[in-house]
Amino acid sequence: MQRSLVLGCGAYLPERVVTNDELAKKVDTSDEWIVQRTGIRQRHFAAEGELTSHLAIAASKGAMRKAGVEAADIDLVIVATSTPDNTFPATATKVQAALGVRQGAAFDVQAVCAGFIYALSVADNMIRLGQVRTALVIGAEVFSRILDWEDRGTCILFGDGAGAIVLGGSENSESAASSGAGVLSTHIFSDGRFYDMLYVDGGPGSTGKAGYLRMVGKEVFRHAVSRMSEAVETAVDHNNLTLSDIDWLIPHQANVRIIDSIGKRLKMPRDKVVVTVATQANTSAATIPLALTAAQDDGRLKPGNLLALSALGGGFSWGSALIRL
Ligand code: UT7
Repeated sequence: MQRSLVLGCGAYLPERVVTNDELAKKVDTSDEWIVQRTGIRQRHFAAEGELTSHLAIAASKGAMRKAGVEAADIDLVIVATSTPDNTFPATATKVQAALGVRQGAAFDVQAVCAGFIYALSVADNMIRLGQVRTALVIGAEVFSRILDWEDRGTCILFGDGAGAIVLGGSENSESAASSGAGVLSTHIFSDGRFYDMLYVDGGPGSTGKAGYLRMVGKEVFRHAVSRMSEAVETAVDHNNLTLSDIDWLIPHQANVRIIDSIGKRLKMPRDKVVVTVATQANTSAATIPLALTAAQDDGRLKPGNLLALSALGGGFSWGSALIRL
């Protein structure tokens, strides 16, 4: 059966680095509190005029270069984002045009921090069905634009960034297909009863007003640990594998305490978990492709490795993916 293979991945972080000490100059907080409660030491913030599409385009160029694909090869562009450039059209259409892609479809997916898993799921299914041959799947955000600097419980948690992967059908690569490489499964879930646990109280929508991120931190924390762990367990069971088969856990990066709790529940030692939250903070839909690219670039990921991806975000929306490299 046709599967989708990860052909390459890329990342982009804005140039400006903001440390906890710098934040503490305008917010009633401290480096000590932030590090102790979250593991975050710094984050990147987009420059004035630097938009989600700009970040997405930069990450995509890196992914396409590493995958060895041209614009003419790509017939699907999906941007997972909760901070689109405009209410419409989709940021993905801007990315498509800037990359010189002139065929196929481009659209956004909105599942907040779980957005990349959702976008991956959509692209994987379209490739499996033969509707698409090569897809660019991007997570890109500028959360710095929706933070309330009066709310110290949330404004210290987020950063800006983008990550992208190129997915291609296994029909183009007999060796990869026979080695069992590819996206083995994706599982996505939502429970809208938790809408007001993590949301933006306005934004480019039907409320007609600008909004800021609101969060009931403790509840989100609790659900993130349970749902992200369960999603990985579901994925492993679905593929008749065990947790010990996983080579790398690549979880959504919101808080190192969440990541450690999930690692503990899944019995994954810390050296099998990719962690980027200290230097990048929570970039929402971008955390997983950013972490994937970091681990790929520093040589940790090897052909044949089994990766477990998992995320939870506003909605609540959550999910997992298992990928064999
Ligand atoms: O991608 C998914 C989205 N988000 C998440 O996954 C985040 C999930 N939640 C969390 O990571 C944690 O709940 C937080 C990091 C947001 C908060 O950690 P916490 O251990 O739940 O702290 P808390 O909210 O219970 O606050 C403890 C204390 C409070 O003071 P009092 O009432 O004990 O005197 C807060 O006012 O810490 C205070 N506080 C701060 N102090 C210094 C809250 N934020 C700050 C801050 N600096 N930035």
